[in-house]
Amino acid sequence: MQNLARLAIALSLAALTTAPAAAQVAGGKALAEQYCTRCHVIAQGGGTGWTDAPTFQALAKRDGASAAKLSSFIQQPHMHMLDTARPPAEANALAAYIMSLRP
Ligand code: HEC
Repeated sequence: MQNLARLAIALSLAALTTAPAAAQVAGGKALAEQYCTRCHVIAQGGGTGWTDAPTFQALAKRDGASAAKLSSFIQQPHMHMLDTARPPAEANALAAYIMSLRP
């Protein structure tokens, strides 16, 4: 079971190394609107969030930001909110969306 889960994660990370499809970015944006906007500003100039939650654009601009790192963070709960932990495919889409904000 554990190995299967690892394999699924490895496969989806491998998929991430190819150019993120526009569809994945769009899917990630829809997921962000659903799960992340109550705390994060998810688009340039849009929405309001908690002041201490970094904007998604700020995350994208960080030195060393990568879709793989973002995806693995997004698969863990943070701020004690269960719905901040997304399954791998969704986390990959969210990470692709965040990285698409990188200037
Ligand atoms: C309950 C409020 C809340 C929700 C909902 C939330 N976040 Fe966060 N998030 C925060 C706060 C506050 C921080 C900064 C503190 C920290 O890193 O834990 C943060 C930090 C982050 C970080 C940066 C972690 C780092 O490396 O410093 C990422 C990436 C992130 N959130 C992604 C998401 C995604 C994707 C969603 C939606 C699935 C989401 N968050 C939903 C409040 C939230």
